Amino acid sequence: MSKLKGRVAVVTGGGRGIGRALCLKFASEGASVVVNDLDAEPAKEVVAAIEAKGGKALAFPGSVTAPDFADKLIAATLEKFGDLHIIVNNAGYTHDGMIHKMSDDQFDAMYEVHVKAPFKILRAASHHFRAVTKQEAEEGRDVYRKVVNISSVAGMGGNVGQANYSAMKAAVIGLSKALSKEWGRMKINVNAVAFGFIETRMTQAVDEKKTIQVEGREVAIGIPRGNVEAFKAMIPMGRAGTPEEAADGVYLLCSPESNYISGQVLVVGGGFSI
Ligand code: CAA
Repeated sequence: MSKLKGRVAVVTGGGRGIGRALCLKFASEGASVVVNDLDAEPAKEVVAAIEAKGGKALAFPGSVTAPDFADKLIAATLEKFGDLHIIVNNAGYTHDGMIHKMSDDQFDAMYEVHVKAPFKILRAASHHFRAVTKQEAEEGRDVYRKVVNISSVAGMGGNVGQANYSAMKAAVIGLSKALSKEWGRMKINVNAVAFGFIETRMTQAVDEKKTIQVEGREVAIGIPRGNVEAFKAMIPMGRAGTPEEAADGVYLLCSPESNYISGQVLVVGGGFSI
């Protein structure tokens, strides 16, 4: 179980759900993991769980949308672990509404977290990537690096009530494809994973509205029970995915077996087709 031995991975939104499962998976394969989350406590808990099993991890709490977040994240990673091999842009949330009721802020919030934040993190990492890959090439060393940007089937096929989220999850596919072309020569595989219906606190079936505060916004978590049943009816495997199964899909594209796979969108959705 050491496919990622010596690798350094950054996971945004790593404190709960899919991100948490991914951090634990990476660590179980020997990677050192930088665990970001908006909330400090869950990030620290994941770090403690990794360290309890003898792994290495760093909690880096904070909002991915903060103006100086990206530069600080990359600097802290390099300072602690000396290199960076895997970036998973996983942090995000939904802010649903029919378009006739959707505010500018509701649209912009999705742009900030799902598109601009991944762009800034990858731009911040690019300076290190350019320097280190040049050196590795000069030394004749074959080192592959991995970027996975999290998209959604909503970004591929659209979803009612998610004009904002669907638009941004489509945009992040464009970002991934562009960088796969810019960064292939540096041996950096850039792919997107589009999740279908995965069980997390964002997708739990609710009878009454529940909300959380995200950067001063009141955001609904959970979706109406009827919608959940309708989604499940469209999944050939007949059930939602678990966070661990979702993480496994991302892990595949971070493993050495994906060294010649780039610019792709992997749908992890139990057979759901768009
Ligand atoms: N198609 C077309 N119209 C629909 C519709 C549908 N499937 N569902 C509802 N409508 C219509 C209603 O008939 C209603 O029309 P009128 O105003 O003419 O009567 C109108 O839309 C408003 O419906 P609601 O009363 O439900 O509106 P609301 O403002 O209370 O709620 C909503 C809207 C927030 C979008 C709510 O319906 C909702 O939460 N839907 C679920 C959204 C969803 O699927 N989210 C995905 C979560 S999973 C995820 O995001 C992960 C991933 O990556 C896949």
